Amino acid sequence: MKLNLKSIALLPFAAALALSCAQTQSDKPVYLDENQPLEARVEDALSRMTIEEKVKILHAQSKFSSAGVPRLGIPELWTTDGPHGIRPEVLWDEWRQAGWTNDSCVAFPALTALAATWNEDMSALYGKSIGEEARFREKDVLLGPGVNIYRTPLNGRNFEYMGEDPYLASKMVVPYIQEVQKNGVAVCVKHYALNNQETLRHQYDAVVDDRTLYEIYLPAFKAAVHEGGAWSIMGSYNLYKGQHVCHNQYLLNDILKKDWGFDGAVISDWGGCHDTDQAITNGLDLEFGTWTDGLTMGATNGYDSYHLADAYLERLRDGRASEEVLNDKARRVLRLIFRTAMRTDKPFGSLCSPEHYDAARQIADEGIVLLKNEASVLPLDATKPGRILVVGENALKMMTVGGGSSSLKVQKEIIPLDGIRAAAGELQVDFERGYVGDVSGAYNGVVTGQDLSESRSAEKLIADACAKAKDADAVIFIGGLNKASFQDCEDSDRFGLELPYNQDAVIEALAQVNPNLAVVIISGNAVAMPWVDKVGAIVEAWYCGSQAGTALADVLFGKVNPSGKLPMTFPVRLEDNGAHALNAYDRKATSVEYKEGIFVGYRWAQKKDVKPLFAFGHGLSYTTFSYSDASVSKASIPANGTLSVSVDVTNTGNREGKEVVQLYIGDDEASVERPVMELKGFRKIALKPGETQKVSFTIEPDMLKFYDVNAADWALEKGTFTAYVGAASDDIRTKVSFEVK
Ligand code: BGC
Repeated sequence: MKLNLKSIALLPFAAALALSCAQTQSDKPVYLDENQPLEARVEDALSRMTIEEKVKILHAQSKFSSAGVPRLGIPELWTTDGPHGIRPEVLWDEWRQAGWTNDSCVAFPALTALAATWNEDMSALYGKSIGEEARFREKDVLLGPGVNIYRTPLNGRNFEYMGEDPYLASKMVVPYIQEVQKNGVAVCVKHYALNNQETLRHQYDAVVDDRTLYEIYLPAFKAAVHEGGAWSIMGSYNLYKGQHVCHNQYLLNDILKKDWGFDGAVISDWGGCHDTDQAITNGLDLEFGTWTDGLTMGATNGYDSYHLADAYLERLRDGRASEEVLNDKARRVLRLIFRTAMRTDKPFGSLCSPEHYDAARQIADEGIVLLKNEASVLPLDATKPGRILVVGENALKMMTVGGGSSSLKVQKEIIPLDGIRAAAGELQVDFERGYVGDVSGAYNGVVTGQDLSESRSAEKLIADACAKAKDADAVIFIGGLNKASFQDCEDSDRFGLELPYNQDAVIEALAQVNPNLAVVIISGNAVAMPWVDKVGAIVEAWYCGSQAGTALADVLFGKVNPSGKLPMTFPVRLEDNGAHALNAYDRKATSVEYKEGIFVGYRWAQKKDVKPLFAFGHGLSYTTFSYSDASVSKASIPANGTLSVSVDVTNTGNREGKEVVQLYIGDDEASVERPVMELKGFRKIALKPGETQKVSFTIEPDMLKFYDVNAADWALEKGTFTAYVGAASDDIRTKVSFEVK
């Protein structure tokens, strides 16, 4: 049958469905013709496939790939971790390294650092760059980004996510997705949903009320689907309503596919699929990681033993499973293949390019947060001769290796000490170890090659550091966490908020001998700082990947004026966090009730009026900014109206700098308990000394709503609202009220 190109474009979906073995004018089958609409191609391909071929594309064929349909020339899908760089190649069916020499990558800053830029342009740059690396490595699906909400500072995987606020995470995830996918590489947004801890990650059932689910834990995923247009999403390991989320009626079928209209593929987290019947009926499309020793150790191909493989075929053959559901899954996977692997007009991509190193540096420069800077300890002046002492293991340690599946094999990683040495100018740089943390430097066969062995006792290490610190012009302590198990690492959570490895004692001792002390924390999580009042400056430097040392030095020496803001609350004590205050994080429980509800992060701190160590949105600059009184365009609006809030921001210091102007909104009178205020807008602006810029935010009805559980819908109530504008959630500079009539 020959079909006219135009007519097929106009064919309604149902008619396209009926087309079998269609061909275009050029005698090309419709599914191979990239000028045809995607749905027509998918239907055409589907109509040519046997049941066996349809099942074959629904499960892995190796650690990171799934089969195509060779008979029809439909290619395989190759996935890769994610989310900070492109993972090195492993063997077909083993986690062991394949030993390639062309799979080293650029490590981009961890997603917490990206979120800390509060700059959507940085997210776009990140997505573009990592998308190009994925493309160059011929990957079709990038396993990331992650947007699980930061519920507890103990979660070992917080560094892979974008903080505690659904609005911030939603805004920051979208450009990343759009830019990755421009390369013909799909994102796989993870881990959908409620994977907010690593302890018992395969066993715990997240018990969450609907309001909390919709207001806190789902918005970033929804934005990823609706605004980002994500082509695939990864089901998480945990359970929800008693079902593993990789096959979950509520989260996958009802919300993601039905309510949100997601047309892409749901991919299981590796080993997250547990039940054939649920996998069939509850929304899983593509199964990975279930049986992992198939080809090398099994007598037959282990992948045939997956839930969505032979067991599925059996059910299809004996009528227990319907072809309709099978077709829906196959369509979704075909869409994914057509959008990525089968596209012929993709850019080539690039690996380890100067532009990518530059992107990594820019993102890190903007993400590093200056938490405290009294007596102007920072920036250091590299033009004046003198001696600085750097203390701490994290000044040396490569952080791109470790942490779980996000571990990388980098072409280059500038460690902090080298970054500082390169930027020190007239300053002599001395180093002391201070403490011993994790000296291993290997993950999955990738080794850093660093020798971090140290034989001095803890006391001797402190004494040696203090001896050199006494007469140094400045001391920079570089510590924090690392990527070892029970630190910032997949599959385990931290045991407490405090710094490990005796670091508090080292910092206290250094502070006693030299007041000119700056503490740099390298972590993906908040840490306790009992010495906060005793040190001059504190910097949160995250995990910044290949350019970690360069970017840190940029900030320490003032080449870059810091502009990062915290994407999560740093509590003084663990009990100042809602989940912990209510004992709603339990390492042994397989049922985790999110008792704090919507009061996550700053929402909890403000409700309880507990002063955080450093608040959500906090971050200093080497200059200062003033805010004029906010004004609203209208004093009142109807329920479907919009208004704008404006404020003038002025750089009142003597250095050029960037400020993140933050808009929070509070509902002054509501029928349900609502947070004091919630982030609803932010804008990063650059100002020269003395310069003023007007920043305006449009307030739309959706920003004022809460999730009404009775109506199972978003509700807007009339009354007075307050718009708070400021430099942090605890540094509101001006506010203005308006009414919804
Ligand atoms: C992780 C995923 C990752 C996958 C593949 C899982 O253990 O949870 O985030 O993408 O492994 O490496």
